Amino acid sequence: MSQQNNPGPIGIFDSGYGGLTVFKEIHKHLPDYDYIYLGDNARVPYGTRSFETVYEYTKECVFKLFELGCNLVILACNTASAKALRTIQQNDLPEGKKVLGVIRPTSEVVNQFTKSNKVGILATQGTVNSNSYVIEINKFHPDIDVFQHACPFWVPLVENNELNSEGANFFVQQDIQQLLQASPEMDTILLACTHYPLLLPLIQKYVPEGINIISQGKLVAESLMDYLKRHPEVEEKCSKEKSLQFFTTDDPEDFNEKAEIFFGKRISSNFIKV
Ligand code: DGL
Repeated sequence: MSQQNNPGPIGIFDSGYGGLTVFKEIHKHLPDYDYIYLGDNARVPYGTRSFETVYEYTKECVFKLFELGCNLVILACNTASAKALRTIQQNDLPEGKKVLGVIRPTSEVVNQFTKSNKVGILATQGTVNSNSYVIEINKFHPDIDVFQHACPFWVPLVENNELNSEGANFFVQQDIQQLLQASPEMDTILLACTHYPLLLPLIQKYVPEGINIISQGKLVAESLMDYLKRHPEVEEKCSKEKSLQFFTTDDPEDFNEKAEIFFGKRISSNFIKV
């Protein structure tokens, strides 16, 4: 058996720390597997970059995870899922390797939260411009109207740990008001960016009661559980020693400090060059 067919850790990729909010839920739901998390902190943010750049960066990181022994990689980043996933799946995958994203599993179940069929999406400019959520949600649920709004200041606010500053209050209130103006019937708002769950207490403050606010970590974790059940040929290529490894393309000290906020516990990361 060639080395690439040996069971290996599940790779979790994000442009930075944000994917740790998704990884936290995946690890909670599927604690037995081995995992490698890779954050491309040296090149974050992806949300403001072109299609070509996000595709190239994401491909490099995915192949680094393959090199480290992963057979299955989850793009925890919405921007990477929106701009790079499909092209990587269609053109670049070596035999026996799989890459999955976060947009499809979230879009598939969004109907469970809305009664009015009017759903708001808060995301990075890149995700909004890609129209991926509108396309995916309408594929599964053509009767749902999707309204998108980009929040370019939210990622920097979270990166700088400004979770309740005056600036954070200003931008969160303003962006939510702008989204809600799109439809008075909107009853569901999807936080379609890995960083946004960290702003949840503030978001709840400005979203009127009765509107569902959905974070995607749990939805992605449940969808992965289901995927592994339905695909035993992929599942058996995921090793189960309960090991966790963290890599960053920037400063590991800085990563460890921030990771505590996003992942909820202290971790130890290593530098990696992609
Ligand atoms: N992880 C990205 C996302 O979910 C946000 C951070 C970035 O812009 O790179 O879209």
